[in-house]
Amino acid sequence: MKPVLVSGMQPTGRLHIGNYLGALRNFVDLQNSGDYRCYFFLADLHALTEGPDPKTLEANIVNLAADYLAAGLDPGKVIIFQQSQIPAHSELAWILNTITPMGELERMTQYKDKAARAAANVNAGLFGYPVLMAADIILYDAAVVPVGDDQLQHLELTRTLARKFNARFGRTFVEPKGLLTKTPRVMSLKDPLRKMSKSEPESCLFLDDEPEEIRRKIARAVTDSGTSVEYDPERRPGLANLLELYGAITHMDPATVAKEFAGEPYSALKTRLAEAIAEHLSDFRKRKKALLAKPGAIMKIVDAGSKKAAAIAEKKIALVKKKAGL
Ligand code: AMP
Ligand code: TRP
Repeated sequence: MKPVLVSGMQPTGRLHIGNYLGALRNFVDLQNSGDYRCYFFLADLHALTEGPDPKTLEANIVNLAADYLAAGLDPGKVIIFQQSQIPAHSELAWILNTITPMGELERMTQYKDKAARAAANVNAGLFGYPVLMAADIILYDAAVVPVGDDQLQHLELTRTLARKFNARFGRTFVEPKGLLTKTPRVMSLKDPLRKMSKSEPESCLFLDDEPEEIRRKIARAVTDSGTSVEYDPERRPGLANLLELYGAITHMDPATVAKEFAGEPYSALKTRLAEAIAEHLSDFRKRKKALLAKPGAIMKIVDAGSKKAAAIAEKKIALVKKKAGL
């Protein structure tokens, strides 16, 4: 049997180029490799930790499903499903909670960042977020989890919890490994020392930004006061980020991209990068618009996927309960 691959994204708004180059494009490549049994889901229970308005959340769920499909995920080849439709995720998260040391969760960087930013909404769900994520993964016996760099700490915890459960109750879970792309951490256009994040829209290139918007944001991207194009992530992080983006889109090494632009002003790189991204995403934008014209059809695909995933998850949670003596 082929190894299982699981990944998900939160329906919390528009996807940016970091989500795409760090994760979504890789989902499609991995699907097409034929090497895995793939499950891609909408992490809507995770999104609840941010306290969304119900109508907005509902719209974001459809929107993310459209992103998956427009990017090329194919329900004929992979299972696309909605986390909240499968009770086993929440059940397993609870069981894992009881073997998770508080100290492990207190160390989580994403929790600390979010708690610092949203001091008014530091709910217990935000704290327990990585436990639910662990449940999402080990429920399906995933061996491989493609994610961006910021999720590796959560995956480390996932392995720890799988190991702990196995040690205590007998071999039940697989310990999964993360899978990164060549651009696992796309940086902000405004501050190249921080990762691109949707909490700061001007720092992001969104996948459905129109070409003029892409051009405008890249033209304003922070670089440095140098004049020559060279690839030096340590000393010239803003320029390096643009070279990495260009390299990721054109499948070139960033140092080679730098050579190609040697002797040209930064503006030349920025113009060509904006063109390359707008062009690369043009089919995506068209497909997404067409998909969103029929939201009912999108959710039909997701509901069918949720039924398939539920059948697998139910078997596994029954085994887990038995092992734990429930
Ligand atoms: P999220 O929107 O937080 O659900 O993230 C979805 C996926 O995109 C996860 O695998 C993240 O690790 C990845 N991701 C988020 N931001 C970036 C970034 N700036 N660069 C690369 N990958 C990212
Ligand atoms: N935490 C991930 C993120 O913020 C989303 C996620 C939830 C996930 N459960 C997962 C990713 C399981 C991979 C596997 O991006």
